[in-house]
Amino acid sequence: MMRKKTSMDLQRALKPSKRCATRKENPYSIQSKLDLPYLPTPDEAIEAMFPVLAVRYGLVSHSGQKFIDLGAGDGRVVEGCARVVSINATGVEIDPALVTLANKRLSRAFGWWAMHVTRNVKIIRKDLFQANLSPYDFVFIFAQPHVHKYLHHVFLRGKDGAIVVSSKHALDALGDLLSFRETITVQLETGEWWGLHFYTLSTHEPG
Ligand SMILES: C[S@@+](CC[C@H](N)C(=O)[O-])C[C@H]1O[C@@H](n2cnc3c(N)ncnc32)[C@H](O)[C@@H]1O
Repeated sequence: MMRKKTSMDLQRALKPSKRCATRKENPYSIQSKLDLPYLPTPDEAIEAMFPVLAVRYGLVSHSGQKFIDLGAGDGRVVEGCARVVSINATGVEIDPALVTLANKRLSRAFGWWAMHVTRNVKIIRKDLFQANLSPYDFVFIFAQPHVHKYLHHVFLRGKDGAIVVSSKHALDALGDLLSFRETITVQLETGEWWGLHFYTLSTHEPG
């Protein structure tokens, strides 16, 4: 026969368990459990983005500006940044296998580019929902729309005036934090079109 639950049982249920204590130590936030699978931005779109950033959004090659890819996947966007415009580029990625893959990709660099990569380019294992965007002039993200509403606190800590590029999906859920600038569409080898959405971040923080 089933025993009736007593108030003691309830108190026990409400008491933080040892499991909760270890969960507190987990560096990954609730949002990090959201389903954000690895899908690459096509190379043609990556190649097209940097000239647009340079001509219309103040990106200066070989300058002290900083670029970040939130959810860097296999590192192809970060590598593109290092190769095409040679500014400081960081990728944050939660999946350790992808971090290893991305670092392998970067280790293929040679000559002057290898030196730049060693000094200025890194892929780190980190939860993008805990990223500090304040040093970054350019923020790249390719996230499915269901994730966008959880990004508010991340962008809120960004640098006022930073340029945000969203691959494929418009970042409509972030409201006044982002001022829409334009969408460019890039034709892929497959004949499909890929959108890149450009925004200015307005946090009113000097960064
Ligand atoms: C759509 S892919 C984009 C990959 C790359 N930025 C590109 O555009 O080619 C999203 C990436 O975010 C990573 N990711 C998912 N959740 C994450 C989290 N909480 N923190 C950091 N990376 C995450 C996934 O493992 C995946 O590699």
